[in-house]
Amino acid sequence: MLLAIETSCDETAVAILEGYGGVRGHRIASQAEIHARYGGVVPEVASRNHLAILPHLVRETLREAGVGMEEIDYFAATTGPGLAAALLVGVSAAKGLAMGCGRPFVAVNHLEGHMLSPFFGESEIPPHISLVVSGGHTLLFRVGGFGEYELLGRTIDDAAGEAFDKVAKMLGLPYPGGVEIDRLAREGDATKYAFPRSMLKSGDWNFSFSGLKTSVRYFLEKGFETEELPNICASFQEAVVDVLVAKAVDAARAIRLLAVSGGVSSNRRLQEKLGEACEKEGITVRWAPAALRTDNALMIAYAGVHRALSPGRERWGDGDIHPNFDLGEFSGGEVEKAPVL
Ligand code: KG4
Ligand code: ZN
Repeated sequence: MLLAIETSCDETAVAILEGYGGVRGHRIASQAEIHARYGGVVPEVASRNHLAILPHLVRETLREAGVGMEEIDYFAATTGPGLAAALLVGVSAAKGLAMGCGRPFVAVNHLEGHMLSPFFGESEIPPHISLVVSGGHTLLFRVGGFGEYELLGRTIDDAAGEAFDKVAKMLGLPYPGGVEIDRLAREGDATKYAFPRSMLKSGDWNFSFSGLKTSVRYFLEKGFETEELPNICASFQEAVVDVLVAKAVDAARAIRLLAVSGGVSSNRRLQEKLGEACEKEGITVRWAPAALRTDNALMIAYAGVHRALSPGRERWGDGDIHPNFDLGEFSGGEVEKAPVL
């Protein structure tokens, strides 16, 4: 039985998992509404809210699970990457609980949580290509099995979800904008406006979404009619999706198994286009379960259980927070170091 805490960004989340797939408790307190006032996440505000909410959330999750604190075998928390002040709240709480109960503390990398989520419940992670598309990250990994990760490519500027959120803000849509753009795009014509597909032919597996965002900004500065909103959303979304699909399919051609996770994996157009492209290429796609796509503690618990139960890989890390995007820092270099771009 493992209790996991996730506080890397603006969601406070706690989960209790028994083995690889026995969900005993699962709670998320989103601060999205609070941060919506500012048009984005304010780290200091996030940290203070984590601190206020977390004790109640832990108690509630234990109650939901019907277990006492003494029945928890491991305490896990996201140690990075994320906002330093926010991470510190969850990590300190989990370490305190672990110490108080005389149980081990398990450090979990947030990205590993996203990456493994498509296999939630399973004890083996098969060799595959992993596409992580979230508000903070756009990554392609080659995964050999649990703990064997080779970074193939990443965004060199904005993450895919960040591009969705920024463009949504320019369009006057509420935060987080990905969901709104997805919704509006359904009634739009994706061929109406030709926005750039950056790095589509770059010959590597890196991404760039900042040029696309700027291109949309220039376009909007010329003025637009409100009824064009669905067409603008659809055309922008198509540009993001085209690049994600092309690179992911190219990377997965040899292994024939692709796993997709992170908030943007909920995007309907991505699901359609990637689904079609993979079917044509004979690639099986595994999507993260809907409840595990945006930030949550169940994916952290699942990665934590793998870490706790894998012989030779049960290193707990140093227990420090690791806010920066340097995968090599995590757990003695089990996660491949990301190239410095
Ligand atoms: O995984 P997540 O919670 O973020 C990080 O860990 O960074 O995902 C949140 C991101 C936001 O940028 C949000 O706009 C985007 O996922 N998102 C979507 C959709 N649902 C969430 N983007 C496009 N289409 C969606 N349906
Ligand atoms: Zn995330």
